[in-house]
Amino acid sequence: MNPFNYQGPVDPSRLIDRRAELDSLQSAAGDRVAIRLAAPRRFGKTSVLDAHVAAMRAVGHRAVRVDLSKVATVGDVAARVAEAFSVLPADPRRSVRQWMARLSVSAGVPGLRVRLAPSAGRPASEEARVALLELFDVPLRLHEAEGGLTVVCMDEFQDLLVADDALDGLVRSVIQHHGDAAAYVFAGSQPSLMRALFSDHERPFYGQARPLELPRLPLAEATRDIEALLSADGLDAGTAVDELLSFTQGHPQRTVLLAHHLYNLVEQSRSAGERENLAAAAIELALAETRDAQQALWDGLGRVERIVLMALADGQPVTGNAVAGEHRVARSTLREALERLLADERHVQRDGQGTPFLLDPLFAEWLRRR
Ligand SMILES: Nc1ncnc2c1ncn2[C@@H]1O[C@H](COP(=O)(O)OP(=O)(O)OP(=O)(O)O)[C@@H](O)[C@H]1O
Ligand SMILES: [Mg+2]
Repeated sequence: MNPFNYQGPVDPSRLIDRRAELDSLQSAAGDRVAIRLAAPRRFGKTSVLDAHVAAMRAVGHRAVRVDLSKVATVGDVAARVAEAFSVLPADPRRSVRQWMARLSVSAGVPGLRVRLAPSAGRPASEEARVALLELFDVPLRLHEAEGGLTVVCMDEFQDLLVADDALDGLVRSVIQHHGDAAAYVFAGSQPSLMRALFSDHERPFYGQARPLELPRLPLAEATRDIEALLSADGLDAGTAVDELLSFTQGHPQRTVLLAHHLYNLVEQSRSAGERENLAAAAIELALAETRDAQQALWDGLGRVERIVLMALADGQPVTGNAVAGEHRVARSTLREALERLLADERHVQRDGQGTPFLLDPLFAEWLRRR
């Protein structure tokens, strides 16, 4: 079995690095400090939450991850919370079990949608709110009954606002009374939206959680871990792992995607000649696999954004005279487009030196080959 899983969260035992982040999460839980973990798509947020949950359980705490991705209604949110909390010990009021039955939620069915019928004269949306108020209080009930800490990690927290623009207020109103009973982690993609939830004066969670960044993977650590997994299966990729890391610059999912292809290539290669261009061959396979997604992304962009992204891929100064002259665009227009892309945070970020770069190395390569 190829050990490099590039779809979905990785098992905590397969996590590359992230020790500093896990240490920060652990000490914040100890201090009952809430954390917000914001990172671009596919940077390993869910994997880090799963590793945190496992680590917290290993030292005797109760811990759960609530998956809020793509919730569409308040009922969906209640169902996700009930499903996640179902692994906890039964709370004194049996809230989780009762609501699971009422919401027709069965344990172990991730990502479900529910339809809540009105009851006792209450409309369904009101009923879902009551469910949430009771469910979110389960960590407190458990603390009162058994003592101890419950660590609650909410994944894709910003999707809460899709279900209802005021739900962050409801969540905050309950959990602010949890004191020693619970420690919270709020994780999400769309970093700018996450930031709006916690940095906008008007929002209930304003200033309520300590930020924790999830950067690209450190190159040396990732190289070592990938080589260890290859050699555990008797495979030697020569210098190819170094070459891949210098191509991906530690983008988490892209690094593992390329390692996955590299693993297969090394396993299949027989002659020394075949082994010469392993890294290039792995990149070709990954490009072929992601071509449609890159095209769709490209089709959704405006002209000036495209010019900026192409310049970034080519390593040209984006707002310089050369790019402006070649495309007959004002430098100020280019600068504004770059600022928009940076604020959006999905495709472009600044590195440690403040230089903007394309997050996805495969998108950059796809652009260079156009
Ligand atoms: N620390 C890591 N060690 C090993 N692989 C990782 C790590 N971080 C991310 N990955 C890779 O990235 C992929 C995506 O990870 P994960 O699903 O945890 O990210 P995410 O940020 O939650 O993604 P999404 O935005 O899709 O929810 C994994 O399948 C894995 O290949
Ligand atoms: Mg995720």
